[in-house]
Amino acid sequence: MVKVGIVGVGTVGESVVKTLLKNRDIIKARAGKEIKVVKGVVRDPSKKRGVDIPLTTDYRQVTESEEVDVVVELMGGVEEAYKVVKSALSHGKPVITANKALLAYHRFELQQIAGELPFQYEASVGGGIPIIKALREGLSANHILQMSGILNGTCNYILTAMEQGGDYQSALQRAQELGYAEADPTLDVNGMDTAHKLLILASVAYNIDVRPEDILVEGIEELSPVDFEFAQEMGYKIKLLAIAKKRGENRVELRVHPTLLPKTQLLSKIEGVMNGVSVIGDVVGETLYYGPGAGGDATASAVVSDLIEVVRGSNTPMLGYKKPLEMGDFQLVPQMEIESCYYFRLGVEDKIGTLAKISSILAEEGISIKNLIQKQREGYVKLLLSTHRSKEANIQRALEKLRAQKFMKREPFFLRVEEK
Ligand SMILES: NC(=O)c1ccc[n+]([C@@H]2O[C@H](COP(=O)([O-])OP(=O)(O)OC[C@H]3O[C@@H](n4cnc5c(N)ncnc54)[C@H](OP(=O)(O)O)[C@@H]3O)[C@@H](O)[C@H]2O)c1
Repeated sequence: MVKVGIVGVGTVGESVVKTLLKNRDIIKARAGKEIKVVKGVVRDPSKKRGVDIPLTTDYRQVTESEEVDVVVELMGGVEEAYKVVKSALSHGKPVITANKALLAYHRFELQQIAGELPFQYEASVGGGIPIIKALREGLSANHILQMSGILNGTCNYILTAMEQGGDYQSALQRAQELGYAEADPTLDVNGMDTAHKLLILASVAYNIDVRPEDILVEGIEELSPVDFEFAQEMGYKIKLLAIAKKRGENRVELRVHPTLLPKTQLLSKIEGVMNGVSVIGDVVGETLYYGPGAGGDATASAVVSDLIEVVRGSNTPMLGYKKPLEMGDFQLVPQMEIESCYYFRLGVEDKIGTLAKISSILAEEGISIKNLIQKQREGYVKLLLSTHRSKEANIQRALEKLRAQKFMKREPFFLRVEEK
């Protein structure tokens, strides 16, 4: 029998204990041994829980105990969780975690500490979707050319609701009422949670060691109903996308932002709280992964699959690389070198010559307009326009010039557009 200690018996921890009991027979047959939770670590042992396991408040009773073979970290947070995982690995115990925030900051360090010990984290990205195993194993013959992911169900729910009419605040409130958004949804809506997940995927795909602060991260808070009207009229959806693009031999673009995506693309069909990831490999072409990105049971499905893998004796390296890359490490493409199509929302004075001036400012920066819609508002005009492919640096310079114009009635707003 394999004895498991769980640090954190909350939403996911409880579901893990229940799944191990409910599917005990098939799990035993697949793993080759029975898997039993022998201890749980919590903050408040007096709290009523849906599972009956021995509890403690001292994580060392799990990470240092002779009675525990494998440690599962499901407490969340960064620094305290880091101590727990480090302690478990230092005491020779394989570790499984669902903690994307921890991995966004400490994955390479923890890989070093783990060495040959199994360290699995399938549940940290896409909840129940087996995307880490797909990248680390199923697609390991490929150079990963591109990954695009909808990795935050809260944001996708809000964006789907806004698409059907309504503003950001009421969509967020509805998400909170339904339990999809936390009381403090900041990390979800500002794109940081998605960035954590993107960095985990990027490490497996490119072995690149960067932090959330190093990459372009924009949230969905500034989106307005008129952006969805433009998207609808021009055949797009708006999605918060995590994007990784291989550029040249060993450079990679990593970014998170709300994106206009053609309705014809498969990812644009992912609605509500669901998650989805498209991965393009140089050998396989495009593959797509879809499923529930959160929730106790979906996440437990991934945690328990990691447990089964560990019990089977798999020793796949944590981030999927057994040796350094001979071609050298992947480097991050600087933000200003990103290339994309763009969408602008400009609030301008209703005056002859304004449009001509905007076109000339854009032309000075080599930016050409693809589509344009005008919407009359009280006292001003909303210009919604999309561009052909341009460089981020040129777009930023054009925005600076636009901001300086007297005819600008509102702060200019822009989004990136992902054309195939
Ligand atoms: N929920 C999801 O859908 C989901 C999906 C994917 C990944 N994840 C990740 O899974 C992890 C757990 O999430 P969750 O939703 O299950 O969280 P949760 O419901 O808040 O549960 C956290 C658990 O950890 C315990 N805990 C927290 N800090 C502790 C400390 N310092 N010492 C001892 N115990 C402590 C809590 O104890 P008490 O019960 O006594 O408060 C609770 O049992 C997080 O890393 C999260 O990002 C969650």
